[in-house]
Amino acid sequence: MSDPTPRTGVRAPVGVDTTRASIARVYDATLGGKDNYEVDRYVRDKVAEVAPRQSDVARMNRRWLHRVVRYLAGTVGIDQFLDIGAGLPTVGNTHEIAQQQQPDARVVYVDNDPVCNIHGRVLLERNEYTRFVPGDLTEPSTLLSHAEVTQHLDLSRPLALILCGILHHVDDALDPAGIMRRYIDTLPAGSYVAITHFHDPSDGSEAHDMAIELQRRFTEMGLGSGWYRTRAEIASYFGDLELIEPGLVELDDWWPMGPALHPRLTEERLLLGGLGYKPVPGVVTSLHRRTGSKNGRLGSRNGGSAER
Ligand SMILES: C[S@@+](CC[C@H](N)C(=O)[O-])C[C@H]1O[C@@H](n2cnc3c(N)ncnc32)[C@H](O)[C@@H]1O
Repeated sequence: MSDPTPRTGVRAPVGVDTTRASIARVYDATLGGKDNYEVDRYVRDKVAEVAPRQSDVARMNRRWLHRVVRYLAGTVGIDQFLDIGAGLPTVGNTHEIAQQQQPDARVVYVDNDPVCNIHGRVLLERNEYTRFVPGDLTEPSTLLSHAEVTQHLDLSRPLALILCGILHHVDDALDPAGIMRRYIDTLPAGSYVAITHFHDPSDGSEAHDMAIELQRRFTEMGLGSGWYRTRAEIASYFGDLELIEPGLVELDDWWPMGPALHPRLTEERLLLGGLGYKPVPGVVTSLHRRTGSKNGRLGSRNGGSAER
């Protein structure tokens, strides 16, 4: 009997099969990398027909990751990172950013695509503080009890869980909010969760129309996953975590490095990011102010104080 739900990268990571598009390789192609095939470039090009600057969106996602990791390792003092859905190595990987701030920061990358693991292990061969582990986001207990994860990270101390560009590849049938609850319940107090996710503004705008069409192309033209969700749905993945200012916002509104160089593109509005914090009971930290907002957003469109 055929599966009534769309095929997703979750159930069927394509590994070394070069006849099917892979999430990691399509992303690599979008970033301008070389580890991809014709099938992957086909999906990238179908997306680009609708969102010609999608490669800028991928680069914006990487810049956001760099800022978050720099903040966590440099300002907050987090020295352990679990980066799930790490992808193919590219320029400025999580461990490089974290270890610039703290040379002995420990990083474990996880991906369910064996090709990412092969490339990752080659890259990290000589880095004693970093590991690349095969694993599936949708199986939290298996992943968090993997020997290399438990040996390399101290799961009783605060850590940062990085989920950049992965949750939109988990379909609703797998209950992404429920999966996130299990991670958040397990994380020690004082931990952080960083998420970026495709966003459907769901407001009848041109951006909404683009989100609908992009979702159709991602899910029906070779990849099988890539869902654009509402702000409320994405906010629900943070569960009861406190959102660090400026909340869940368009990525370039999250503590930008400087003034914008061009007007915001429509496709750049279709990715939201946020950083959640699991408070230590009874301790009020002065390190950062948090948003109390349940829908993950501060009062102003641009997230107020993040504008610099
Ligand atoms: C779009 S890439 C994002 C790469 C990187 N995190 C970034 O933001 O630049 C998503 C990655 O998630 C991986 N992935 C998708 N579903 C996964 C799952 N259920 N478990 C682990 N990895 C998964 C894919 O193989 C791919 O490498």
